[in-house]
Amino acid sequence: MDLTRDCFLVPGPVRMNDECLKALATPVMTARGTEFRDVMADLNSGLRHAFNLAPSEPIRGVQSWAGDDDYKVVVVSGSGTAAMEMVIANRFRSNDLVLVPTNGKFGERVAEMCKRFCNVKHLQYEWGRAFDLYELEQQLEKKCYESLLICHNETSTGITQDAAAIAEMCQRHGVSFILDGITSVGGMPVHPTKWNAEAVVVGAQKCTAGPSGIAAVAVNSHFIERVHAIREQGDSSPNYYFDMVSALKKGDDDQTPWTPAINLAMGWGAALNTLKHETNEGRWDRCQKMASGVRDLFTDLGFTLLADTGQRSNTVTAIFYPDGIDDAWRKRLKDDYNTQVIGAQDHLKGKMFRVGSMGETPIEEMIEGCKRMIACFASFGHELPQLDVESYFE
Ligand SMILES: Cc1ncc(COP(=O)(O)O)c(C=O)c1O
Repeated sequence: MDLTRDCFLVPGPVRMNDECLKALATPVMTARGTEFRDVMADLNSGLRHAFNLAPSEPIRGVQSWAGDDDYKVVVVSGSGTAAMEMVIANRFRSNDLVLVPTNGKFGERVAEMCKRFCNVKHLQYEWGRAFDLYELEQQLEKKCYESLLICHNETSTGITQDAAAIAEMCQRHGVSFILDGITSVGGMPVHPTKWNAEAVVVGAQKCTAGPSGIAAVAVNSHFIERVHAIREQGDSSPNYYFDMVSALKKGDDDQTPWTPAINLAMGWGAALNTLKHETNEGRWDRCQKMASGVRDLFTDLGFTLLADTGQRSNTVTAIFYPDGIDDAWRKRLKDDYNTQVIGAQDHLKGKMFRVGSMGETPIEEMIEGCKRMIACFASFGHELPQLDVESYFE
């Protein structure tokens, strides 16, 4: 086993490629000049592609943030949470009621965030269990909800929600649909137009393999209308830095209201160009191949996966430790096998580990990482069946 190469298999932040790192190191430029507006145009065009929206030209002055559909992309200085808060703070009045079904930490965070700005019906399912769609339907039939918000790909538990089915329900009941797509956009099929999603959020450091600290949101015209209407009625929640009205005003001109995260924008633009080159379908396929390999391999090795069968994520897999093994295994995997995966959160801490299959990770790295995980389990005296690891990733 050649341990000189590290295997970095965490569900974000993921490794950045050389083009991205080089772009991050670009010498300073002004925030308001044509040079930076070129950067924004490139970034906007890359984002539209990653969001699976109609294309736009990466050229300043031609509305690169918009396309031949109903959506605009807005870049946010801050991580994915900032973009999610910007959506919620600007979209809802304090007396609006929203429905938030959850089955993990990040969905619960969406519900918590909503509580700061509006009324929330939080349908809290057990971590890793699929939503009860019948219960969602019953709730929507009450006709009291302004929106339904979900964490599309629940990174804490490795479950992906059935967004198409939920979107169909929302359309039927005239309820707007908003997604935290932080670990889905760029890593698995996301269809804002088909799902009539009002807003979808992405964070750079996950499936698009950009730098941490920058995020974006795709919003449709209904979202924009509501934001303006609420502002005109003087009914909006207090917020200044994340003011969507200011961001929308500046977006027309390939700009942001405040000093942008200039170098992060350049780095992300480069990473998104790599994604354009790979194509969304190419990346979705690679992530799917890696995740299904991990799922099948660890199942055949006798491990238990947390998420419900049929809705297991293609960008992160949550696997329970066997009896007698805990996070000491993860420490040894890092220290002695030069391989990183991530642990669990909250009540599952120490009980399972999570393997990321997102960004630009080559399949060969996943195969090598899995071999090292098996070797590390053996070093704890936990002998596993001899399996042909490669064959799981063909
Ligand atoms: C699904 C999901 N939502 C939200 C977040 C929070 O995003 P950030 O840390 O970029 O603010 C994460 C981070 O892991 C996530 O995986």
